[in-house]
Amino acid sequence: MSVNGVSVINVSDGNLEKSKLQKGEKTQFVFQREGKYGAHNYEPIPVALTRGQGIFVWDVEGNRYYDFLSAYSAVNQGHCHPKIVEAMKKQAEILTLTSRAFYTDALGEYAQFITQVFGYDKVLPINSGVEAGETACKIARKWGYLKKKIPDNQAKIVFAEGNYWGRTLAAISSSTDPTCREHYGPFMPGFLVIPYNDLNALEEILKQDPNICAFMVEPIQGEAGIIVPSPGYLKGVRELCTKYNVLWIDDEVQAGLGRTGKLLAVEHENVRPDMVCLGKALSGGMMAISAVLADDSVMLCMKPGEHGSTYGGNPLACKVATASLKVIIEEKLCENSQILGEFLIKELQKLRKEIVREVRGKGLLYAIVIKEGLGFTATDVCIRLRDNGLLAKPTHGDIIRLAPPLIITEAQLRECTKIILNTINSFC
Ligand SMILES: Cc1ncc(COP(=O)(O)O)c(C=O)c1O
Repeated sequence: MSVNGVSVINVSDGNLEKSKLQKGEKTQFVFQREGKYGAHNYEPIPVALTRGQGIFVWDVEGNRYYDFLSAYSAVNQGHCHPKIVEAMKKQAEILTLTSRAFYTDALGEYAQFITQVFGYDKVLPINSGVEAGETACKIARKWGYLKKKIPDNQAKIVFAEGNYWGRTLAAISSSTDPTCREHYGPFMPGFLVIPYNDLNALEEILKQDPNICAFMVEPIQGEAGIIVPSPGYLKGVRELCTKYNVLWIDDEVQAGLGRTGKLLAVEHENVRPDMVCLGKALSGGMMAISAVLADDSVMLCMKPGEHGSTYGGNPLACKVATASLKVIIEEKLCENSQILGEFLIKELQKLRKEIVREVRGKGLLYAIVIKEGLGFTATDVCIRLRDNGLLAKPTHGDIIRLAPPLIITEAQLRECTKIILNTINSFC
């Protein structure tokens, strides 16, 4: 029998730590066990990780790698950041979960902190990024009925082509990616899709349909392949949403929290959305924590009993999120992301034009787009990068996303760009 192309070692009574596996066999053991007992809803790069610290991760063979994915930007603060670990350990011994059936001293303290940091009246704490999107859509619909007086069950939300906010039934209902939709219908009604980075399309649809309550959009599209909109797009979105009395839901789950060189990516255009979705690095990689921020006029449309989650706003999450935000602010990770991003883009311009079609991004979120028809894919590049000590993940067959932890130093980034340039240029 073979799993993922490797012959199977008997894993039935296996424990990796206790096993007598030789070097090289441990990796196969990990692949095979996961393949045998875990659902096949992911296709990982073949490397079996066991430890992380700062910008590095180690595999089960003891090899060290630069992490250039940062768990899709959830580990902006670096792996196992000591201050976040400390906050987590401390609270884990005091109180972890009560549910929202009761008040806790941790939730109000966290809510006060995060709303002051981002300048919104209220926060709704929840768990994963997709739940933040779902929560924002629900609040927007409620606002639409209560404040905009949309007739019952007629509220619509507009999304942009290439959007990604998870893969629940609601999230795939707005998706334009056939992979996550096929055989999963029927889909959520009331979701409309327009092209990304197209203000004319936005105005056209808002003008035509008075039942639109919100436009949900990423300030830079992450999963679509780091698509950076034209300058002025976010400002235009703000103006149009105000003009047509539509809420702007800003999905900062991936682009936010320092990744693009600002705490929120919308700060690049000095605009303020009506709702902000945060997730991923809100916990520095410790656990699933997400949040929706909005002002009272929007947030208070939602009443007790209408939404929630057993774990949302638990004391452990409150302390971890507070520590994670403090690390981003106190360690000036936005500034580091911006400064080192400028260095990174200069270096990436040295990639051979025969191989690379485009390099795009902002801060420490970049995409290298490989030319088609060269006989190799972005996955081949990522496997060679792995062999050279750097982990990145391909997307859409021809794109390599670069997103190191924001704590990376210039010297480390210099070393990493050498690996990236040598590896990619070696394909020519
Ligand atoms: C912009 C954006 N929103 C939402 C999500 C969903 O987050 P999660 O996977 O934590 O549910 C993602 C995940 O990649 C994302 O990139």
